[in-house]
Amino acid sequence: MIIKDSHIPIYYQLEMEIKEIIKELKPGDPISSEREFSEKYGISRMTVRQAINNLVAEGVLVRQRGKGTFVAAQKVEQELSGLTSFSEDMHSRGLTPKTKILDFKTIPCPRGIASKLKIEEGDQVYEVSRLRIADDIPMALETSYLPTLLIKELQEETLHGSIYEYVEQTLHQKISHATQTIESTLSHKNESASLGIKEGAPVLLMERFSYLANGTPFEYVKSIYRGDRYKFIIDMKRS
Ligand code: GLP
Repeated sequence: MIIKDSHIPIYYQLEMEIKEIIKELKPGDPISSEREFSEKYGISRMTVRQAINNLVAEGVLVRQRGKGTFVAAQKVEQELSGLTSFSEDMHSRGLTPKTKILDFKTIPCPRGIASKLKIEEGDQVYEVSRLRIADDIPMALETSYLPTLLIKELQEETLHGSIYEYVEQTLHQKISHATQTIESTLSHKNESASLGIKEGAPVLLMERFSYLANGTPFEYVKSIYRGDRYKFIIDMKRS
């Protein structure tokens, strides 16, 4: 219901109304046209357009040129409290993880990363660039740096699956904790092409340093997550 003399803007009321309507729909289902909304609620098409534009920007709806507007795929809701891997995150949601290796080589560790990994600048690290995919949808681009002395004999085959599983199951090392930052940014040209999003679309840049139980850092990862596919959840306690 839209209340015209409310202090809440009409476009915003319509956004809420559409969010309610699509709870009954599935991803990919079409929503009513601008004209239909405008007639149903007795509001201008400009107001309807504003509401729909906002929901498209929020990733709730997707617009397809010449076809109409559809319900978008739901965002993955990611808890921030536990230290989990991409493979685990997707499996726990019933999604099938896939990985495309974009680059895999051994390089001398760049300076800024070496100090954090507690190795010497120039010590060898694997540099792994991977596109992480869930149910055939590209979700994130990740570039990982792992010291070769620690993460021994890493093979391309392993990188199609889970690095964490390799560390724990094959190398028998316990992963204990990580420090991670999250920043919003806009996707660059190359990232956009791999992720299947428009250049300049909002993405989340995450940087993670992860440690083994003995306190040794074993990875630095720079990840670009699609802003329209991810939502982060954190439980907070007031002390
Ligand atoms: C997530 C994290 C990365 C981590 C990766 C390990 O994607 N953002 O920092 O390296 O999980 O995933 P997997 O064990 O599936 O390779």
